[in-house]
Amino acid sequence: MNPIYRSQNDEGQSGRSIHNLVYCSQASEGMDKEAIASIIATARHHNPRLGITGLLVYGQGIFFQWLEGPHDNVTQLLARISADPRHTNVVVLSQEDEIRDRLFPEWDMEWVEAADIREVLDDALQQSSDDKQKRMLSQMLLEIESGGLVK
Ligand SMILES: Cc1cc2nc3c(=O)[nH]c(=O)nc-3n(C[C@H](O)[C@H](O)[C@H](O)COP(=O)(O)O)c2cc1C
Repeated sequence: MNPIYRSQNDEGQSGRSIHNLVYCSQASEGMDKEAIASIIATARHHNPRLGITGLLVYGQGIFFQWLEGPHDNVTQLLARISADPRHTNVVVLSQEDEIRDRLFPEWDMEWVEAADIREVLDDALQQSSDDKQKRMLSQMLLEIESGGLVK
């Protein structure tokens, strides 16, 4: 018996797929807790209406964001986020449509501080099978090692 079995997915309609998207990016100069709190406040304002949940990780000048929700809403939000001058070099690490429950159904957008973003990047690098992603991740790791990304 599976104790966490749910008969419907969270869209309240079985068979509806959910889009997951994970990207990383480089924060712009001057990113601090106040600036992140303001991003989170904006996200919590818009995301419920869009049916989007997820998680934002920030550490050592790097953002990781997990977005999940209806396909079109997630891709439109990504376009808006990508144009935001508070970060650059937005690299999509993975995106897929799946029929399943959300991983973060309760989080309009949760802020997680990565004590060591290197571990997060290393894990993503180990799991990546895409050459471009691997190059970008390796480059970010190299820049972290050389102190270039740490503000
Ligand atoms: C790293 C990062 C993550 C963001 N995440 C979200 C998000 O999840 N939802 C959202 O609406 N805006 C997010 N934003 C802000 C958007 O880029 C954009 O500024 C905002 O949606 C515009 O909202 P407004 O028209 O109310 O100012 C994020 C920005 C950054 C830099």
